[in-house]
Parts: sequence; structure tokens; C-alpha cells
Amino acid sequence: MNILVTGGAGYIGSHTCVELLNAGHEVIVFDNFCNSSPESVKRVQQISGRQVSLVKGDIRNRDQLESVLREFKCDAVIHFAGLKAVGESVEKPLMYYDNNVVGTVRLLEAMEATGVKTIVFSSSATVYGDPQYLPLDEAHPLSASNPYGRSKIVIEDMLRDYYRAHPDWKIALLRYFNPVGAHESGLIGEDPNGIPNNLMPFVAQVAIGRREKLNIWGGDYATPDGTGVRDFIHVVDLAHGHVAALQALTTPQCFSVNLGTGIGYSVLDVVKAYEKACGKTLPYTIADRRPGDIASCYADPAQAREKLGWEARLGLDAMCADSWRWQQKNPNGFVG
Ligand code: UD1
Repeated sequence: MNILVTGGAGYIGSHTCVELLNAGHEVIVFDNFCNSSPESVKRVQQISGRQVSLVKGDIRNRDQLESVLREFKCDAVIHFAGLKAVGESVEKPLMYYDNNVVGTVRLLEAMEATGVKTIVFSSSATVYGDPQYLPLDEAHPLSASNPYGRSKIVIEDMLRDYYRAHPDWKIALLRYFNPVGAHESGLIGEDPNGIPNNLMPFVAQVAIGRREKLNIWGGDYATPDGTGVRDFIHVVDLAHGHVAALQALTTPQCFSVNLGTGIGYSVLDVVKAYEKACGKTLPYTIADRRPGDIASCYADPAQAREKLGWEARLGLDAMCADSWRWQQKNPNGFVG
């Protein structure tokens, strides 16, 4: 199939492009590079030995999307493009609604105009809010405490509404848990702008010497060691989940599915595993809780197994080893 990948130059997008190419699909990346680099697309080509078509553009530009969908005779869209920093979304809510929600409206309009009726959307476990029970299954109620999370819920609702009106569409909403790690080649990985918000990229920068120490946000949670527990999932497993979702969309349907491992690891578990991977002691201090954080979050991955025939295969050691390889080979990310 010819697949338009919005946000295909980004962290999860680039890893998914590799697996789409490996599965024999043609890939057209559409990206405005606001939080990514065209270099990642070159690296995707290097890893796969295949060509990728690259279009610089903004998903809010419906006309451009329409002409790209036509020109490349796209059969399906995998929609990663969006903003994802929780703190920034609180400060700039309109920017988040504009990029994430309005951008998706424009994309759906362009798809409607060109007759492309298959879409895989990047949702997030953030749509479950503070868990009422664990593990989180897809029936758990949705809630959000910040504009980023709310933008994901709005888009999910919009896609469900759209499907009700257009039952001939094929729609998959993939709820990611905590994507970490990098491609085993060390050629692509996560390259955050500025100070990383997320745990593993921060730990990686401590290990390489770019940051002095890790602040662990809270040591008094009701978890086995007091630090937060998350369902970390290797980004390559996540990428395979997208290929599986596309394959599962053989008939019209709209479903949401968790992409997680089902295993919760604490922040301290991650620090220990990373120390093993990099062979160094990583300095940290226990600091105050980060506002908006939850104690524990992990998936019930049963539905992904049933619906997609997919399950995560790579464990925490591989996540840390692959992150460390990427960090060592690219100490300053793609630009360095
Ligand atoms: C965060 C977002 C979530 C988003 C996801 C993916 C928040 C509150 N949630 O999830 O909406 O979908 O990223 O981008 O921002 N930690 C530290 N020190 C650090 C960084 C993190 O101790 O420097 C801890 C956190 O307190 C948490 C765990 O590590 O317990 C994971 O944090 P993080 O990687 O930011 O992911 P989430 O908060 O789960």
C-alpha cells in the first residue's frame, strides 16, 4: 500500500516508517519539522535500503494534503503529526487545539475529498486520566487534566463520530503507553528539543554527561519503591503495532486499542536497568512530585493480541541498551 505518514520524521513516526518499508509498503512522509529533522528520514532510508518520499508541509494545510494524497495515490494514512508536551499545552492551549484538533479536521477533509478512507491515529494512554483501576483496559472511562490529553480525547471522539456518519471507513485509534528505546542500529531515536520532559531521554542525557543528575519526581507514591510506575514499551514494538493495525483494517470498522506491554516498571527500575546498559552509576535525587503525575499506569494488552495479533516482545534491558546505543552514536541528536 501507499501510506501517507504525517509526522513521519518524528520519534515514533520514523521507527514506524522503517517497519512499513520492511513490510513492503511505500511511504510518503508529511512533516513540518517543528519537532523533528529531515535527517531522520535519510536514516530511515539507510536502515531500510528503500526510498521514502518526503513532503514538507503542515497538516493544517488541507489543499496541500489533498494534492499529496492524490499525487502519491495514497491508500491509507498513519497520523502521528501533533504536539505532545503537557506543560506547554497548559501554557498554550490554543496552539494544541489548533495543531492537534484542527490539524486532524483538515486531514480528514483532505481524505474525504480524495476518497482515502483508512486512518491509524496516534492516541495515548493519557486519555484514561488518573486510573480508576489497573491494568487499564479499553473500556476504562476517558478523562484528561490538561489540553494535550484533552486534544487526544477530542480527536478520538471526532473519529468515532466520523465513523458513525461514514461507516465505510477503517479507523484504528492506538493508545500508546510510554514509548522508549531506539532502533537497534543506533541510527534513529528520540531527539527532544531542549531539556527532556520524559524520563528515558533525560536519563540518557545524564548517562552521556549532558545533564548532571536526574530528578525523580516523587518518592512517596503508593508503589513498591515509592516512585512512579509506567508501562514502558520499546518504540520498535510500537512501530510493529502500527503495521499490525493497518493489516487488521481489512473491513470497515473503528476500534481503539492499547499498545503497551502490560508490565509496570518504576522510575528506579529504569534507572537501575539503564545503569546496567551504560555501565555507569547515574546520579539522582528524589524531588517533589510533578504536578499532574499519577502513581501507576499500565496496560491490559489483551485486546491488541486479539484484534491485531500483536504483542510487545522487547523488555526493559533492550529498551535501555538501544536508547544508550542511539545516545552514544548521536550525543547531540540528529543535528550534531
Ligand atoms: C508523559 C505525559 C503524557 C504523555 C507521555 C508521552 C505528563 C504528566 N504526562 O507521560 O501525557 O502522553 O509523557 O510523551 O507529562 N520522571 C522523573 N524525572 C524526570 C522525568 C520523569 O522522575 O525527569 C518520572 C515521572 O514522574 C513519571 C515517570 O518518570 O513517574 C515517567 O514520566 P514521563 O516519561 O514524563 O512519562 P509520563 O508522565 O508517564
